[in-house]
Amino acid sequence: MTTTHTEPSPAAAPSAASPSLISTLAGRYYTDPDIFRQEQEKIFERLWFCAVRSADLGKPGAFRTVRIGRESVLITRNRAGELRAFLNICRHRGAQLCTEESGEVRRNLQCPYHAWTYDLDGRLVAAPNLQKMPDIDRTERGLVTVPLREWLGYAWVCLADDPPSFEDTVIGAAVERLGDAACLDRYRTEGLALGKRLTYDVRANWKLIIENFMECYHCGTIHPELTEVLPEFADGFAAQYYVGHGAAFSEEATGFTVDGTEGFGRLPGIEDTQDRRYYAITVRPQVFVNLVPDHVIVHRMFPMAPDRTVVECDWLYLPEVVDSGADLSKSVELFHRVNAQDFDACERTQPAMSSRAYRAGGVLVPSEHHIGAFHHWVTDRLAETRT
Ligand code: FES
Ligand code: FE
Repeated sequence: MTTTHTEPSPAAAPSAASPSLISTLAGRYYTDPDIFRQEQEKIFERLWFCAVRSADLGKPGAFRTVRIGRESVLITRNRAGELRAFLNICRHRGAQLCTEESGEVRRNLQCPYHAWTYDLDGRLVAAPNLQKMPDIDRTERGLVTVPLREWLGYAWVCLADDPPSFEDTVIGAAVERLGDAACLDRYRTEGLALGKRLTYDVRANWKLIIENFMECYHCGTIHPELTEVLPEFADGFAAQYYVGHGAAFSEEATGFTVDGTEGFGRLPGIEDTQDRRYYAITVRPQVFVNLVPDHVIVHRMFPMAPDRTVVECDWLYLPEVVDSGADLSKSVELFHRVNAQDFDACERTQPAMSSRAYRAGGVLVPSEHHIGAFHHWVTDRLAETRT
């Protein structure tokens, strides 16, 4: 059963007692399995979703499976070296084709149930006794293709029947939030190499993680290392999600590292005005990008359950920095601590979402109108009845 919530967004109704305060979403938005199911259907299965880092699938036959909404999506590299995405479902009797999260096949993808075999472009190429089943049209029984685009060195896929414009809803939206069309391009993220990946299994709803990322009211309380490097975050009004102006490093910090010591050489494309500055954006629905002079950090969120979100975080550097075997630990440690501090706060908040104390939600401080806008965006999407 599909339930469409048409009630006005709680974010639209300021408290009568405190007109400058905006209510958050009610607690059930973070716990209710039916709301989560609607989010899967109307957000994650309809928008472009950043699935894998392209370079993770280096060779033809390398694959990765990711959960997007209610579907398992298989992404692989074909013989021509291009990425392809399919629903991870065998067209015979529906067995999951690849049960591993990642791996590599030598030539084809073979279903472990009755051995139907597909090539890396999804075509059905063999099946036991296929010649005795003349009614089966091989061309009709290939894997179901999922649209895929590459940007920033990642493969983005979209499960919608009619995908929205990638240029408008992904690239355009990111650039608009950053304010300067060329700013993001100058980091040349697609040419960077993976220095470190950490995966966090966070026992919290995906929206708590986004909301936390969009506010800096907590920075002075829980991020001592970050506020040492970015002092403007200490006053709580910087909103990490659209630090389009670039937050300046403190005078003492020589690099974006856990102790403010020097990092690595500046990325060659960036300009003097971007040096010693931190930029951050959220690309809806599930990506955060942080830009600093010597590296780029990309977070991808995978909402798994109303109270569970897996976050994959990549630290990207110039290939020569990674190849040199340089010690990245101080560089990685700064945002790893920020992540651990943030996710700890989200996990501390999740249990309260089912408390009667949060039945009507909490409040946003006045500078957080953009979080209110995010709540509107979520409730507007849930109110959509189109399938
Ligand atoms: Fe895959 Fe039968 S379900 S071969
Ligand atoms: Fe934070």
